[in-house]
Amino acid sequence: SSGSKVLVHFVNQSGVKSSVFVTEGETLLDVVIKKNLDISGFGACEGTLACSTCHLIFEESVYDKLEPVVDDEVDMLDLAYGLTKTSRLGCQVTVERWMDGMTVHVPQEIKDQRGKQEAVSSK
Ligand code: FES
Repeated sequence: SSGSKVLVHFVNQSGVKSSVFVTEGETLLDVVIKKNLDISGFGACEGTLACSTCHLIFEESVYDKLEPVVDDEVDMLDLAYGLTKTSRLGCQVTVERWMDGMTVHVPQEIKDQRGKQEAVSSK
C-alpha cells in the first residue's frame, strides 16, 4: 500500500550510522537528500548518472535481489572510488518493501586516507 515505511540504515564515510524510515518508491539518493543525511558530496549530479558520488555498498543478500544494473550505471561505477562487487549507485536503486532493515555503506575514502597518512608520519 502507498505510504508504507521501510527501515534503512546508512553508514557514512566516518562510520556513523543513521537509521531512517523511508517511503517505498523513493531512490536512495532521494532518501539522503530528504532526510538530510550527513554524507559529504553525495549525489553531485542529482541522479542523472553523470557522477559516482552516490556510490553505496550493499549487503550481498540485498545486492543479489536488486534490479539489474544498466550499461550507463556500469560506466559510472567504473569510476567510483573503492568499488566492490556489491556496489551500486544510490540514485539508481529504488526502495522496496523487501529491503526493510537493510544496511548500506558509503565507501570510507577520507577516513582510510587519513589513517594511512597518520601511519606514515608516526614512523
Ligand atoms: Fe550522480 Fe547518482 S547522483 S550518478
